Amino acid sequence: MNKIGAGLDFGNSNTTIAVYDGKNINYLRIDSGLNKGVVMPSALYIHKNKEFETGSRALLRYLEENTNRKIRLSEVEVGTIEVHMGEMDRDYFVERDRSFTARLHARIDQDMPGRLFRGLKMYLGEKEETRFRIFDKFFRLEALLNMLLRSVRESWEKQGYSFSSIHIGRPVRYQGSSDNKNDQALIRMKKALSLAGYPAPLFLEEPIAAAWSYLDDHSLEKGNTLLVFDFGGGTLDLALLEKLEGKSFRVLDTSGLTRAGDWIDREIYSRIVFTHLGKGAEVPFTKDDGSRSSYPFPFSEFEELLLNWQSTHLLNQARYLEDIDRALLAGGETTLRVDRLNRLIRCNGSFTLIKLIEQAKKDLSDQEKTRLVYPEINLDIELTRDDLKTVISSFLKEIPVLINDLLQSAGIDTVDRVVSTGGSSLIPDIRGLLENRFPGVVEEWDPFHSIAAGLAMADYYS
Ligand SMILES: Nc1ncnc2c1ncn2[C@@H]1O[C@H](COP(=O)(O)OP(=O)(O)OP(=O)(O)O)[C@@H](O)[C@H]1O
Ligand SMILES: [Mg+2]
Repeated sequence: MNKIGAGLDFGNSNTTIAVYDGKNINYLRIDSGLNKGVVMPSALYIHKNKEFETGSRALLRYLEENTNRKIRLSEVEVGTIEVHMGEMDRDYFVERDRSFTARLHARIDQDMPGRLFRGLKMYLGEKEETRFRIFDKFFRLEALLNMLLRSVRESWEKQGYSFSSIHIGRPVRYQGSSDNKNDQALIRMKKALSLAGYPAPLFLEEPIAAAWSYLDDHSLEKGNTLLVFDFGGGTLDLALLEKLEGKSFRVLDTSGLTRAGDWIDREIYSRIVFTHLGKGAEVPFTKDDGSRSSYPFPFSEFEELLLNWQSTHLLNQARYLEDIDRALLAGGETTLRVDRLNRLIRCNGSFTLIKLIEQAKKDLSDQEKTRLVYPEINLDIELTRDDLKTVISSFLKEIPVLINDLLQSAGIDTVDRVVSTGGSSLIPDIRGLLENRFPGVVEEWDPFHSIAAGLAMADYYS
């Protein structure tokens, strides 16, 4: 059989696999959705019966089974701790009769049909081992990644492929809290890949992979410089390269940020949408002496659980719902806003809202304004490109500094070509930033395939 190079771009949002035979690139249909797409959402849904789905079907199943589901929380015992109270007497601990055993409880969503995981890549660089409670068991990150990666392997095998080697993309800087997050992340990733039955992987930084595929298709003169700008869902990755003979190149330096498209969605949620759910609302009430006054609705108590859609169901507890009920009696503007929050919590709609926010953000890449409409919670607001520009203002300041530092490290102040790729590079103000800094030399390069293609090429020639 002829040699085949394989490349897996395991992204925070999307996963793509490409094969290269020395002439042509082919993207494999790995998604489980009806149209069997080549770009698979990096999503995993585990049912209560331990069966699981990946990709588009995982998202669909989650939405089907969870939207408008009434949440019933019950308290379960998850363990006990023994507390020994006493005093130190010289070197001895003298226990007094105040020792006791405390039972630890957690609130469980008792009717939850399954759990959805998105963006598992972002946990790879965490300091502590990440374990996820899934019904009655704890799963390690590697075990969940194994399920996702295994389904990709089974999918390529069904299409008649088998690989003796594979190149896998990695960001320049992984997200996470570990001091040595890159090393940590690669160890965990290797473990998961090995569990999933992959051949020993070779890792390549994602923007370097994009350079492989770009240079296979475009000519650049020897000695020219190229900046690859890969802005995805979890990270921004940059690579600065110098073109050598033929299609080869030399990497001058790399750089990156550990925030990207997902962060933007969360910022739209907290900086724009929260106001429409009751942030900043004043709840009017009548004092004992008959005069009118107001108190601030305690929205800050809700914020974290709203942003973390996996945990939003925990807001279905008396301590939160009582605050809402009190505000709902107040009437007027406050009621309107808090009623949206009430509906969102009770219909378990946080994930749907995040997806609608993401879609509105994407719409703004093609149009000046759009509407964010979620009828079930009575939300209908306009979002403009200016709103998005305000939300991403920190990126618009940080990115030029990052680029300048990268160029400075190579002793140059401009480049001959800029290649922009990754879904978030489609945001017009990001594109504008690159155009202003490097007029006339910015090219968009296959935002959702460029990395998998380049990985397959690198694998072929390795
Ligand atoms: N048209 C668009 N306009 C703006 N953003 C978009 C558009 N299309 C996709 N995105 C955003 O791009 C991100 C996904 O891009 P991509 O598939 O390149 O990421 P990824 O490779 O999975 O992530 P990473 O490389 O960070 O691991 C998401 O945040 C998505 O919302
Ligand atoms: Mg990517």
